[in-house]
Amino acid sequence: MFPWPGYRPTEVATELAGVCLHPLPLCGRRRLQELKMDIEKAKKIVREAYGKLAEGQECCCGDSSCGTDTTDFARSIGYTDEELQVIPDEANLALSCGNPTAFADLGSGEVVLDLGSGAGFDCFLAAAKVGSDGHVIGVDMTPEMVRKARINAKKHRIDNVEFRLGEIENIPVADNSVDVIVSNCVINLSADKPKVFREIYRVLKPGGRIAVSDIALLKELPAKTRESIEAYVGCVGGASTVDALQKTIEAAGLQNVKISIKGTSACIGFDTKDPVGRAILDSFDKSESLDDYVASVLIEGFK
Ligand SMILES: C[S@@+](CC[C@H](N)C(=O)[O-])C[C@H]1O[C@@H](n2cnc3c(N)ncnc32)[C@H](O)[C@@H]1O
Repeated sequence: MFPWPGYRPTEVATELAGVCLHPLPLCGRRRLQELKMDIEKAKKIVREAYGKLAEGQECCCGDSSCGTDTTDFARSIGYTDEELQVIPDEANLALSCGNPTAFADLGSGEVVLDLGSGAGFDCFLAAAKVGSDGHVIGVDMTPEMVRKARINAKKHRIDNVEFRLGEIENIPVADNSVDVIVSNCVINLSADKPKVFREIYRVLKPGGRIAVSDIALLKELPAKTRESIEAYVGCVGGASTVDALQKTIEAAGLQNVKISIKGTSACIGFDTKDPVGRAILDSFDKSESLDDYVASVLIEGFK
């Protein structure tokens, strides 16, 4: 059964992902009049899904067929044992798709912002790297995630990090105040990526940099995948193609933008029983796999 009462997949996910299936004139009018509301609906769906996950219920990015050991999962996407030792176990929800701070070249005393910080996974690693003279801000729009991250910080007495409730489309951070922005498997979930990158540009100090791990498309998804709410919250349905992403980021003003493909997106096996992974695979032709469409990427750039 469709799990979000009140939302119809074709009315929500398809247009949120930037593809309109309606006849063109209607399409244009709908997009002009209702885009804002659709973006709000997308946020509500994502917030509800990740709120459940923060409270221990399964959903979203990743796949139970990847194994239940979150440490093994983190190792598989590039975290070293040394790095994992400084991150509280409770902050690792196996929701990431890369290791952005490994590429951010963080230095002592820097101000770091993590967009979509979840339970604080990369924030705690960044906090260790910038030291007591540095400061880390995690922003997440899901109250349950922010609460969990704050509990983790308090319990482990990590005091150069703070967590703010807010949206990456309206970042609750002052202009020109951040040295480095990291993010891990989040921007694909935004239905307004141009706004996210304009906000990134606004809050970065001149000369500031970004290191973002995310999911991007190698080619456009089938319409059926675009319509799947599971694919959307599972970090696939809302992703942009690598080319579109490059253009969006450059249009926001960032320079020397480089998008590197780091590997396949997830370990969704063809026989997975995970409901999110299953829904994504079932939306493809039988001969196709996730790797045909989706990759894990690292995005770098400067203000
Ligand atoms: C896939 S999880 C990744 C969490 C974390 N980065 C990690 O690697 O563990 C996505 C997170 O982004 C948050 N998120 C999604 N869309 C957001 C938005 N538009 N603004 C703020 N946070 C958002 C969700 O609440 C969730 O915590």
